[in-house]
Amino acid sequence: MIIVTGGAGFIGSNFILDWLAQSDEPVVNLDKLTYAGNLQNLEYLKNDRRHTFVRGDICDLELTSKLLATHRPRAVINFAAESHVDRSIHSPGEFIQTNIVGTFHLLQSALNYWSHLDRPAKCEFRFLHISTDEVYGTLGADDPAFTEATAYQPNSSYSASKAASDHLVRAFHHTHGLPVLTSNCSNNYGPHHFPEKLIPLVIHNALAGKPLPIYGDGRQIRDWLYVGDHCRALRRILDRGAPGQSYNVGGGNEKTNLEVVNTLCATLDELQPRDDGQPYKSLIAFVKDRLGHDRRYAVDASKLARELGWSPVETFETGIRKTVQWYLNNQDWVRNVTSGEYQKWIQAQYASEDL
Ligand code: NAD
Ligand code: TYD
Repeated sequence: MIIVTGGAGFIGSNFILDWLAQSDEPVVNLDKLTYAGNLQNLEYLKNDRRHTFVRGDICDLELTSKLLATHRPRAVINFAAESHVDRSIHSPGEFIQTNIVGTFHLLQSALNYWSHLDRPAKCEFRFLHISTDEVYGTLGADDPAFTEATAYQPNSSYSASKAASDHLVRAFHHTHGLPVLTSNCSNNYGPHHFPEKLIPLVIHNALAGKPLPIYGDGRQIRDWLYVGDHCRALRRILDRGAPGQSYNVGGGNEKTNLEVVNTLCATLDELQPRDDGQPYKSLIAFVKDRLGHDRRYAVDASKLARELGWSPVETFETGIRKTVQWYLNNQDWVRNVTSGEYQKWIQAQYASEDL
């Protein structure tokens, strides 16, 4: 069996659903259920004995040690994190705690568990740490894409905390021989994406007839990866990745934020035209820029293609269409996650913009 942390969040829940669609290997899912964790994402597995949910914190050394001793997994896959750059600008403390201290504690309990395994189990065990391309910093328009050899130059408290956790993962391999793997992926999108991030926020606001906030000039570039492609990459890295290595995962879709929002608007115009006949893009509103906003991310995923034979199957257009359709079909999910705490965040974040 495997232990997944942060499995009630966006990517973690997609990963668990995909994992159990591909195999019967059980999953223990450890999640603190912060504002970003939602058990509704795993509703489909409610009566499935292959999935065990445990509410808890990766910082809790006693709990993670007990889980490892009880379930004896062949792998730990660490998705648990604070993941939103804007929140890390306002309150970085949680990022330091979960992303750095939490990963450190998880590594400590994994090392203790691993060091007492017999030889074959020791060889088989993996600690897969999910990181981000944001650790590499920002690119100029003509710079080559990030490779695994690009120096870390994180610019936000989010990316700095992820970079710190990556270094700890690396150190536990170098010093203690713990068989770790690190993946650095680009911006994901797809079902279960919390509507504080660009793509689900724009879909949500558009359907509610609210302004679509674009930071600064909207020409910042991200490399978009469909979450289903990411999950396939992670299974491949877990199966075939070499311990101690890191692998970039990218969608090969560099788009400006304006291009992304225009594509979303055009897709919505087609799938759910507005009652007043106006195009959704008439809702676009330019707002003040994010502090320290990274200009461009681009991921060179050729190592993963070359060494492990992975490449994305979704194009940006097919992935966006699936995503918009999912949000149209799952308005109850959106209603649930956008009640309560969500309202407070939106009011605080966009307050000065009169949106
Ligand atoms: P998310 O914010 O949607 O989910 C994070 C999950 O972790 C939530 O379920 C939350 O409850 C849980 N969690 C938070 N703190 C915890 C703690 N202390 N103990 C246990 N659980 C805790 O995040 P996501 O978008 O699914 O991202 C998953 C991972 O992928 C993160 O490590 C993130 O840094 C990385 N990543 C995400 C993206 C992206 O585009 N979403 C891109 C690159 C890397
Ligand atoms: P986001 O989804 O927060 O991901 P990240 O910051 O990790 O890349 O943002 C993606 C891009 O969209 C980023 O350049 C910031 C921009 N953005 C907006 O223009 N408006 C918004 O309301 C949000 C949330 C993001």
